[in-house]
Order: sequence, then C-alpha cells, then structure tokens
Amino acid sequence: MKYIVECKNVWKVYNPESSAEVKALRGINMKIKKGEFISIMGSSGSGKSTLLHCIGCLDTPTKGKIYIDGVDVSKLNDDELALVRRYKIGFVFQFFNLVPSLTALENVELPMVFAGIPKNERRKRAIQLLEIVGLGKRLYHHPNQLSGGEQQRVAIARALANDPELILADEPTGNLDSKSGAEVMKVFKTLNKKFGKTIVIVTHDPLVAKTTKRIVKIKDGKIIGGE
Ligand SMILES: Nc1ncnc2c1ncn2[C@@H]1O[C@H](COP(=O)(O)OP(=O)(O)O)[C@@H](O)[C@H]1O
Ligand SMILES: [Mg+2]
Repeated sequence: MKYIVECKNVWKVYNPESSAEVKALRGINMKIKKGEFISIMGSSGSGKSTLLHCIGCLDTPTKGKIYIDGVDVSKLNDDELALVRRYKIGFVFQFFNLVPSLTALENVELPMVFAGIPKNERRKRAIQLLEIVGLGKRLYHHPNQLSGGEQQRVAIARALANDPELILADEPTGNLDSKSGAEVMKVFKTLNKKFGKTIVIVTHDPLVAKTTKRIVKIKDGKIIGGE
C-alpha cells in the first residue's frame, strides 16, 4: 500500500442541526504517501486539529472515509481502533501531555507497558529512544525539571515507543520558543530521513511548515492548496 493516509470527502459537523452547529471539515480529500514529511497549515479554527484527530482515529468523521494503510477505519470496532492507535500511530501534542510524577524514562516506557512489553526490553528501548531525541543524559528527570523543548522531545520518544509508521503532531512547536521549536523540527526531520517515519505536522506557523517537504493548506475546513 503506497498511501498511509487517504481522506475521501471527509466532513465533520459538530452539534449538527442545532444553533451551535459548526462545519469544521467540509469535504477533505487528501492522500499521504508512506515516508512523507508533510505539514497541514492553516489559521486558528480552520479545522486542523479536527482533521488530525479524525486521521488518528481519536474522532470519527460525520461523512466520508478515512483509510489508514489501506484500511477503512470506519469499519473497525473499538478494540481494533485501539490497536491502530497503539501500534500504527504516534501522537505528539502542543502541551506535551507527559505524566508529571514519572521520569522521562518511565514516560517513554508507558505505552510499552500497555502493549505488554517485558520490563527489561522496554527499559532498553526507552533509553535508545531518548538517545535518538538527544536526551540520553536526562533519563531520570521529571517533566518539571526539563525545559519545554526537552519535554516535547520526551513526548516524541514516547510517540515512537511502539514503533508506529505514522507520527501525527498537533502544533508541536506552539508552546516553544523559536530555538526549541527548531530543535524539535530537527528531530522530526531525522525521524523521517533516518527512520523512514511518515510525519504529519499541523501548524499555523509558515516557518514551521517550511521545514517539511510538502505543505497542505487548509481554510474553513477545506483544502486550498498543496493536495
Ligand atoms: N468539540 C467541538 N465542538 C464544537 N465545535 C468545535 C469542537 N472542536 C472544534 N470545534 C470548532 O471547529 C472549528 C475547527 O476547530 P479546530 O479543528 O480545533 O481548528 P484548528 O485546530 O485549526 O484551530 C472551530 O470553529 C472550532 O470552534
Ligand atoms: Mg488546533
């Protein structure tokens, strides 16, 4: 399968047929090839997070189809969707979402705990992943002992824990200064280049988007360029 993601006429309508109705996505058609490094760029409220959540099986479209690695995810039951989220997709969020009471190492191990990986193996792998994101010397720090950029790199290592093919990142630099943001984008670039991961970055920032290989523009829930 050449495409890791295919969206066919995807609509998302919040609170349909009420006074609070919002048509967040209005007929999205988009294909992402395996191994791409792509950004989805648009202003606040354009539908970026909604689209990423639908692609990541965290939310379901009102209409249309999403295929992940050729599989129509609307046909999957809850257990099957949980497996797609656990093994096929890694998420990175704007506010890192690390567990404050756990060390960097334990945060990265957590998805492997849920996947039933034995302790020694998951520890070894978590160390390797933290080394890849440049945090080999921060294994035992807690999130509040790390800078924002370092916390985001822990979150990236955690997203890689179960070796997903697809990394989805929602405004991953949105809470960082420009230097830390550039470091985080460099990590994504390495993951794409060296490890062949498909990476989708959602951003409102043209400078961040420019560091990816393809920019898809979204406005008012529609793709307006780069598709
Ligand atoms: N859970 C929700 N319920 C109702 N409206 C929502 C919800 N989430 C997002 N929206 C609306 O959908 C539109 C797109 O939001 P979003 O996808 O978060 O945009 P972006 O990530 O580009 O800022 C916005 O108008 C937003 O207010
Ligand atoms: Mg958003």
